[in-house]
Amino acid sequence: MREHWSKLGFILASIGSAIGLGNIWRFPYIVGENGGGAFLIAYIVAIIIFGFPLMIMEFSIGEKFKGSVVTSLKKIHPKIKYLGFFAVFVCLGILSYYLVIAGWTLAYSVFSIFTQIDFTDFTNTLYPLAMFFITLLIITFIVRTGIKKGIERVCNVLLPTLFILVILLVIKAVTLPNAIEGIRFYLTPDISSLVNPRIWLMAIAQALFSLSLGTGILITYGSYLKKTNIPKSSLIVIISDTLIAVLAGFIIFPIVFSFGINPATGPQLAFVTLPKIFSFMAFGHFFETIFFLLLFIGALTSAISMMEVGTTTLIDEFKLNRKKATLIILGIIFIAGLPSALSYSSFNFTVFGKTFLDMMDHLFGDILLPICALIMTTGIMWFIKPKALLEEINKGSKIKIPYFIIPVLKYLIPVLLLVIVLMELF
Ligand code: TRP
Repeated sequence: MREHWSKLGFILASIGSAIGLGNIWRFPYIVGENGGGAFLIAYIVAIIIFGFPLMIMEFSIGEKFKGSVVTSLKKIHPKIKYLGFFAVFVCLGILSYYLVIAGWTLAYSVFSIFTQIDFTDFTNTLYPLAMFFITLLIITFIVRTGIKKGIERVCNVLLPTLFILVILLVIKAVTLPNAIEGIRFYLTPDISSLVNPRIWLMAIAQALFSLSLGTGILITYGSYLKKTNIPKSSLIVIISDTLIAVLAGFIIFPIVFSFGINPATGPQLAFVTLPKIFSFMAFGHFFETIFFLLLFIGALTSAISMMEVGTTTLIDEFKLNRKKATLIILGIIFIAGLPSALSYSSFNFTVFGKTFLDMMDHLFGDILLPICALIMTTGIMWFIKPKALLEEINKGSKIKIPYFIIPVLKYLIPVLLLVIVLMELF
């Protein structure tokens, strides 16, 4: 018997997958690098025309075919089963380095209680490796416990906690001296930058990553659905995810501006810049701990969803039980993540002049993810009967999604993804 989510459990788990490092860490610095408030406008357009259709497509494919990404695609057409395997590969590839960063956030949230952390000192120890492994063990344990007793129960506790931590941090940040400067930067749109197509492509790529689209995560989560209103659930997931990303900006920008630092400091922002700033702040260590705990919770619930993609595939396709399946994924991720976990250490693994972790992020997050989303969407939309898909989407919903969504999914979205892939490659 296939397990089923409760209605709320499904929504919270999906929000948990969406909210992660992408919202709290990546979103603010991308806004910082791309014209402040103008990027926000582009992002909102991107989630409406791109994120929402893809999300309801993935959920309804999962709900209709009741199988892992491989199994579901196979049922649509036997030939596209290989696209499913590619999706699992990309998802686990992302997981392998995502967990390393999740491990850093765990370490930071624990260590910041006691001391001031220096990124280089930290990465020169074996702590990053140990924390990577601990985080991997935690998610393995949760996924192994199952959909309802494991994932759903954990998300029911962690997601409300995450919202509370965000609110606490926003209150602290906006009451800092000079916070208003940061808010002004954040909310003032540099409208002229909207003529730059790059901003729009960045917005779409960010929506892809932040909403966990394109690697079969939502197909997997959808496959454990009994009956639900897919358009409405998708809307709730998208609004919550965007809300947290926007609020993260209200944390980062006031903090950064109140200490006079350039907001476009890139990925270093969270692990190098912010800890220094926190140490100057009243009750800084406390808020630093809260901040990294927030990142850790976000990353944990996202990592769970990535692991579930591989696990469900082993269960549905290879008829393994959940225990064995999670054990195998644990082994794969441990080996695949090892070089990333050691990459900032004194071993200093570099590939083409980039540290291994940065290379993985670029290869999997920037290039293979849009490629995977592109070929998966094209494959699905090529073979599925539009009427059957539309019927599934609208099954539980009073407000009907119009037929217009089919050409959007079949032509517009693949073209946008293709342009993103080309932009990343050249
Ligand atoms: N959405 C998560 C975040 O914002 C990351 C994530 C989870 C993800 N699953 C994914 C990214 C699948 C790409 C593909 O951090």
